[in-house]
Amino acid sequence: MRAITAAAHPNLALVKYWGQRDATLNLPVNPSISVNLSGGTTTTTVTFDATLKSDRVALNGAPADTRACARVTAHLDRVRALAGIATRADVRSRNDFPASAGVASSASAFAALSLAATRAAGLDLDMRALSILARKGSGSACRSIPDGFVEWIAGDNDAGSYARSLVPCGYWDLRIISVTFGDHAKEVSSLEGHHAAPSSPFYAARLAQTNETLDTVRRALLARDFPLLGMTAEREALSLHAIAMTSRVQDRPWLSGIYYWKSETLRLIHTIQTWRQEGLAVYFTLDAGPSVHLICEAKDQADLESALAPAIAPLNGSAIISEPGRGAWIVDKRACASTPADTSCIR
Ligand code: DP6
Repeated sequence: MRAITAAAHPNLALVKYWGQRDATLNLPVNPSISVNLSGGTTTTTVTFDATLKSDRVALNGAPADTRACARVTAHLDRVRALAGIATRADVRSRNDFPASAGVASSASAFAALSLAATRAAGLDLDMRALSILARKGSGSACRSIPDGFVEWIAGDNDAGSYARSLVPCGYWDLRIISVTFGDHAKEVSSLEGHHAAPSSPFYAARLAQTNETLDTVRRALLARDFPLLGMTAEREALSLHAIAMTSRVQDRPWLSGIYYWKSETLRLIHTIQTWRQEGLAVYFTLDAGPSVHLICEAKDQADLESALAPAIAPLNGSAIISEPGRGAWIVDKRACASTPADTSCIR
């Protein structure tokens, strides 16, 4: 009955995962590249307890709803199968960022859960095996396991689809400012978006471009070429949204396409492009939602923040600032000393 606590950051894709090869295993159609976001953390404690009749799950201090419970139990079942145990578990998870922050919490949630649950079950998985496990909880969660800037190798089977670090978090001092606008509930989930993507007449064109996009982002990262990274990531996000807007969503015949953007999204996009014309080196990326993630180099953070505050106030916007973050880590002091740069607990 050892309680193990692990933590993980969410991540932001610079090259997006959009479309699944296998919906059960969460195998992506294309590889993707992301950066961990230090501005948010999910911290999860798992205790396997022989006295429990079923798994008990608390999220942010309250019992989880049926859907979340079922998703956590399905993930614990994967861990139990690996460990050869049947014991039920107590899971307590907390996010230090609001659910409406525009940053997907499922990646950090399943990364932290995978690390805490495997250790609590007596397993010591290496980075690759842990990433494979996290992927089955939520695809993008596999990218929150390794450190810093991460590539998810698509693979074409379970063992071949995992994430690995391209460069560590300290390699490039970037800032990511995630701006969200009020409390817009997502009408179409990422999962529905993945399923709908192949119905877009432009999906094949997006895929034909992906290898070049991946190469360019890898090259820009290694060379710390900010304009190249920024513009490539920005165009890549627009490509995802072009697919979404021209996709056909199953069971929703009234939708001509998926519009994740709100009017505030477009207003901020225009403003960012104007700032760039005026000489401020800032780029954006967008996920499957209305939030805008701005990227700049650390030297431009102060200028960007002073331009951003008056620009988002009338849009009811709020911002979370991140640096490139570390991979998932153990926070239980008895299991492993936790220092900011220590990912040595995971091999
Ligand atoms: C647009 O299926 O990982 O963010 O589990 O709902 O968080 P959730 O999403 P997931 O898809 C993520 C899609 C994306 C692009 C990306 O992160 O690569």
